[in-house]
This record gives sequence, structure tokens and C-alpha cells, in this order.
Amino acid sequence: MEVLGIDIGGSGMKGALVNTITGEMTTKRFRVPTPPSRKPKEMARVIQEIVEHFNYKGPIGCGFPTIVKHGVCKSPGNLDPSWLNVNIHELFSETTGLPVTVINDADAAGYATMNYGIGKGKKGLVVMITIGTGLGSGMFLDGELIPNFELGQIPYKEYDKIELWAANSAKEREGLSYKKWGKRFNKFLSLVEIITCPDLIILGGGSSKDFEKYSECITIDTPVIPSELQNHAGIIGAAAAALHQAPKD
Ligand code: BGC
Repeated sequence: MEVLGIDIGGSGMKGALVNTITGEMTTKRFRVPTPPSRKPKEMARVIQEIVEHFNYKGPIGCGFPTIVKHGVCKSPGNLDPSWLNVNIHELFSETTGLPVTVINDADAAGYATMNYGIGKGKKGLVVMITIGTGLGSGMFLDGELIPNFELGQIPYKEYDKIELWAANSAKEREGLSYKKWGKRFNKFLSLVEIITCPDLIILGGGSSKDFEKYSECITIDTPVIPSELQNHAGIIGAAAAALHQAPKD
């Protein structure tokens, strides 16, 4: 079945149709910059724009960059604070007139990687880390998602959360080289390793495609590999979640 998957990030909102049996995108990705306000109404309008672009009617899966419990935003992350406690599932379903399933964006990316990608069949504890505006994390035990792990929220030095120091947005904001940023990212991974003791870490999000530029900085013991789905994983996993995840309410 073809389902519209939408990956919502702090800087871009991306959609594509996805074959949920093979996990392949059947259209090109359509990207709209996230409205600078990052507020509910403006972002809902972009969801509608993406639906119209594909002239789509059917279930939609959305990866959303905050904690999402039963379709509700439980911590606005890098979005506008007015998202807190908004029922995203209802807002997007009402705006589009279509059924929308919403899960955390890193959970969605992990879901794609574990079901269609490099994580398929991997046993034990696998952590998916997405590198973008924030640092997202998706946890899988023997292939089963444990939702809403928020490893990017670990406080670090003077920062309220380590993603402010080690996400791709910090690299861009401070104009860091891959080498300098890679050391920070390795520090983040070393904390992930201490806290979760994973068997494997898989990287996704925009920066995963440049892995060879900073791989030498990654010195932790746990194996770290980039997802071959790169930043398409969020779209693919969101689409799959629309069919396979438990209903929102
Ligand atoms: C949010 C996470 C999200 C990550 C990546 C963080 O700021 O707290 O929920 O997965 O950004 O978008």
C-alpha cells in the first residue's frame, strides 16, 4: 500500500509517498521549510500543502520532533512552546480531513531502519540516533520500539540539554569543522553508551550521510554505523507507522 509519510523537523517538513511493503519511496521527496514561528497553525498549513502537492487521499504518518504520547505533544523540544499539550493527531487530521498517525521523529526513523534497513533482524538493544536541529533517539529491544527515549535531553556542562552543544544545529551555528563537531558528538555517544549499554548504535538524519567525514572521531566501544536510508528514514518510518503502530487513542 502507498502511504504519505511526513518527517517534520525544526528546519524542514518533508513528505513522500512510500510503499509500506517494500519501504521504498515511490515519489520524490517534497520539502517545505518549517515556518520560522514553528507554531501549530502555521505548521499544520504546511502539512496541508504537502497533502495537496501529492493530491493525496488516505492515511498519513507523521514523524514529529517532540515527545508524542497518544498523539499529544508532551514537550515542545525545539518547536514553539505553544505546542505543549497540543493534540497533534487531532490538529493535523482536522486540517487535512485525513487520518493522521503521529509518532516521535527519531522513533519513526528507527522504525524504518529496523524494519526495512540495516537494523532488520538485529537483536538486543539498538539505539537509533538522529542528527539534525536536535538529537533524537529511538530505542529498540529485539526489534520492538520502546517509544520516546530522549537522550538528546541529557544536561551537559552549562547546557540544559546536550543537543544544544552536539546537534548539527550547534555545528552550523558555531561554524565547527567535522573534526571539532565529531569530538562533541563522540562525547554525546559516550554518554548514550554509559546510560543504555547498547549492542549497536545506528545514525540517521541529515548528518548521517557525511559519516566518513567524522567517523575517525567516534571512539566508543559500541559499534556505530550510519543508516543507509539516511534522512529518508524519517519519512519511510512515519508512513509505516501509519499502518503498523497502535492507534492514537
Ligand atoms: C526532541 C526529540 C526529537 C529530537 C530530534 C529533540 O529536541 O526533544 O523529541 O526526537 O529533537 O528532532
